[in-house]
Amino acid sequence: MKIVVQDLNKCFLERRHSIRFLGQCPPGTECRVLKDLNFCIEPGSFTCFIGPSGCGKSTLMRIIAGFDSASSGKVLIDGEECSAPSSRHVFVFQEDGLFPWLTVWQNVAIGARHIHDHEERAEQIMEYIDLVGLAGFEGHYPHQLSGGMRRRAEVARALIVEPDILFMDEPFGALDFVTRLQMREEMVNVHTMFDMTILFITHDIDEALQLGDQVIVFSDRPSTVKADIKLDFPHPRDLGAEPLARIRREVYYLMGLHPAL
Ligand SMILES: Nc1ncnc2c1ncn2[C@@H]1O[C@H](COP(=O)(O)OP(=O)(O)O)[C@@H](O)[C@H]1O
Ligand SMILES: [Mg+2]
Repeated sequence: MKIVVQDLNKCFLERRHSIRFLGQCPPGTECRVLKDLNFCIEPGSFTCFIGPSGCGKSTLMRIIAGFDSASSGKVLIDGEECSAPSSRHVFVFQEDGLFPWLTVWQNVAIGARHIHDHEERAEQIMEYIDLVGLAGFEGHYPHQLSGGMRRRAEVARALIVEPDILFMDEPFGALDFVTRLQMREEMVNVHTMFDMTILFITHDIDEALQLGDQVIVFSDRPSTVKADIKLDFPHPRDLGAEPLARIRREVYYLMGLHPAL
């Protein structure tokens, strides 16, 4: 799906002072979180959003998905203005989203409700469980799985819906370093296998540069687009090799960080 964000602004009514933004938005006033955002996302592409914590990435994702509305401006999805949630838009969040009282099989089955033929449904569920490397664990409950396995089960549940847009909000943020690297590789494979537009929020610059066809860097709030970078590099990517290394240095500087970190 082609996504066009046009002159998008979002304000919230500030109810009380926040410690971070003390003085910026007095209580009772409107506080602008997103400011004049304009960008375009190509169908079937993998787009990463990065920016400081609290800059409005999750808010922007909710607006694109139709769960929240913009204060002004619009979001066009394949030319149509998006104003309500769609079952074709699927979210994966950082927090565990599996139902703890259901097995992996039963959790994935929730995403497969649109498949009416009983046999085909069971077949597909097993296929997707297998795809994410969880064959043999279909009868396990979430508490019997590692963090990475739980993420995989969630990815399977999201993929079986065959969504038009997959929204991922810091999906691997709570995983250990090695598991996160594995999940990154798997997401590259998922994106290669499925013709799906993926929007992916991460606080990890290297993760964005490893995964994205496009990386959008946001400023602190009121958040503007600081950089909109197209990355036409094959996978797997070596972030140490030029010209990707130069882009990496630029993004670190844009985020106010030193690239040697
Ligand atoms: N429903 C809401 N009401 C008031 N303020 C909100 C609401 N949702 C988010 N905000 C504010 O908007 C800002 C951006 O939040 P969020 O989109 O979660 O940021 P990010 O995902 O980039 O960390 C935060 O400062 C938050 O306090
Ligand atoms: Mg967020």
